[in-house]
Amino acid sequence: MRSVPLGMVKAGSILAANIFSNGRTILRKGHSLSQSNIKALRKMGFRTIHIEDDSLDKPKKIGIISYEAREKAVNTVETVFKDFENIDSQKFEKIRSSAEIIVDDILGMDDLAIQMHDLRSWDDYTYRHCVNVTAISVAIAKMTEISVGNLKLLAAGALVHDIGKMKIPDFILNKNGKLSDTERMNVQQHPVHGFDLLSEKTQSSPLVWAIARQHHETLDGNGYPDGRAGTQIHKWAKIVSVADVWDALRSDRPYKTGWPPDKILNHLNSETASKKFDSDAIEILNSIVVLYPVGAKIRLSNGMIAEVQAHNPDDHQRPVVRVLVDEHGRTIDDPDNYILRLEKNPSIRIIETIQMTNSPVK
Ligand SMILES: [Fe+2]
Repeated sequence: MRSVPLGMVKAGSILAANIFSNGRTILRKGHSLSQSNIKALRKMGFRTIHIEDDSLDKPKKIGIISYEAREKAVNTVETVFKDFENIDSQKFEKIRSSAEIIVDDILGMDDLAIQMHDLRSWDDYTYRHCVNVTAISVAIAKMTEISVGNLKLLAAGALVHDIGKMKIPDFILNKNGKLSDTERMNVQQHPVHGFDLLSEKTQSSPLVWAIARQHHETLDGNGYPDGRAGTQIHKWAKIVSVADVWDALRSDRPYKTGWPPDKILNHLNSETASKKFDSDAIEILNSIVVLYPVGAKIRLSNGMIAEVQAHNPDDHQRPVVRVLVDEHGRTIDDPDNYILRLEKNPSIRIIETIQMTNSPVK
């Protein structure tokens, strides 16, 4: 038996314990869960349920970090954030130790080709976002000259970078529509709230406070809350800022669908973004993101529609694909026999992602 976040539970999983609501049993032990059961439980506010081990198709890694490291970090962030008024050095120590686990996990990875599509968030957005941003920041920072000790400090700062959001009402954070000027000004105070909480209540490093305060500053000085520009922004905050944008655009939210990785990188590589974000961090991100993960459906420049079958470690933009629809618009009956190595077909380019894989955390 294992307690599993609802987002990880697949249809067909067997319940290992009865589920109660308002004192009544709504689903019994041994029941095979349907997709609509899972949906209904989520609607009712269930976050985790107990299922039989056999029915757990648990991925070893979710994106960059292991399932265990990720869930532990999410729980720690959630516990600390929910009691943010009472944060102290002891509680920050828990953050520091989660940061250490994440860094050790990433440092243990041989292949830095990261399928960041897996790092998506669902209902408990703020906590998962902080963990995602940490994993991405560490993956970027690892490629720069930084000591392991500093990498852990950066990770701790990234884990709490949005703690100030706990002071912003949920209805503003999750608003489905344009924020009013007052609401926007309210949201833009979260880096200050985070800085105040961390600097006044914990003995953490000023570098951690800087990440909380500066992660929405932009190189052109048009960011918030202080309008710092260029070198006035700490280099770690610049890395966290790129990771923050990546995860914010990638994630589904009540008011928008997450963007595919190629669209985000196009955005980050644009001239507009280059005025705002650190070019070194973006360059590293370009080199480590797997744009077209296995299972993604893509449109090719010759009109074909194909599904990614395998990565090409030498060139992430040119994977091996199975052709689903040929250049004349005809559906291929047996795509397994129509394999294209884009590396060997330089005239064919990927135009866009039509559909991403079904993320295990979606
Ligand atoms: Fe933020």
